[in-house]
Amino acid sequence: MQNMRQQIKEAASFVEEKIGFRPQIGLILGSGLGVLADLIEEVKVIPYESIPHFPISTVEGHAGELVAGQIKGKHVIMMKGRFHLYEGYEAQSVSFPVRVLREIGVNQIIVTNAAGGVHFDYEVGDLMLIADHINNMGKNPLVGPNDKDLGVRFPDMSAAYSKRLIRLAHEVAKRESFEFREGVYMGNLGPTYETPAEVRMARLMGADAVGMSTVPEVIVARHAGMEVLGISCITNKAAGILEQSLSHEEVMEATEQVKPKFLNLVLGIIEEM
Ligand code: HPA
Repeated sequence: MQNMRQQIKEAASFVEEKIGFRPQIGLILGSGLGVLADLIEEVKVIPYESIPHFPISTVEGHAGELVAGQIKGKHVIMMKGRFHLYEGYEAQSVSFPVRVLREIGVNQIIVTNAAGGVHFDYEVGDLMLIADHINNMGKNPLVGPNDKDLGVRFPDMSAAYSKRLIRLAHEVAKRESFEFREGVYMGNLGPTYETPAEVRMARLMGADAVGMSTVPEVIVARHAGMEVLGISCITNKAAGILEQSLSHEEVMEATEQVKPKFLNLVLGIIEEM
């Protein structure tokens, strides 16, 4: 544990030295949503592989770099590309970057992902604010000895996703004549998409969307005392709703379509945070 704290500090010092400021807002950009990083001013880019102790991203469509700078006059840092449990990383590794962001000053984080719509009303291209999650991954990044300097042993998850930020996001959307969905995200391990039976189970359990990320990062963000906003981009109807198969290409195509709306809204939210 001492070792992990040491690793966090080394990675954070490296990043801090490269960017030269302490960002307050962090973002994790999910599949295909990395374009947000192109809008940053006075940009500093740090490839993951150059950062001490960072895992290395392997999935297509995930660049794997930290991008820092200013948006709407605010200092931000973005993870362009993230780590997934299905790649074989431990939950602690997947969420390690969140620890590093905390160490360099980030106390508000926007976590985004691509997800399948489980709720029958959800359409491709909808954006869902995550009201809550169900950890169905069988993993938790806090398993093991707890370092109390990083957070408490038994973190409260009763308000994992900030009601204040959800309200703020709804207000920003209203100004843009847009309406976010708001629902429960179920994190599955992947890499298989769900079976129709698993999607029915997810719905019965109270999920509105399913994906393969976000849960470990949010658990660590809450452990570290960060304020969290989660946004799911509904890229497909989850398995079994339509009589058709599901592919990664389809998911990437759908994010392509929703990008302009997504960018606009996230910019508006950052401005108000
Ligand atoms: N299931 C899991 N993860 C996903 C999906 C899905 O239907 N769509 C995008 N990511």
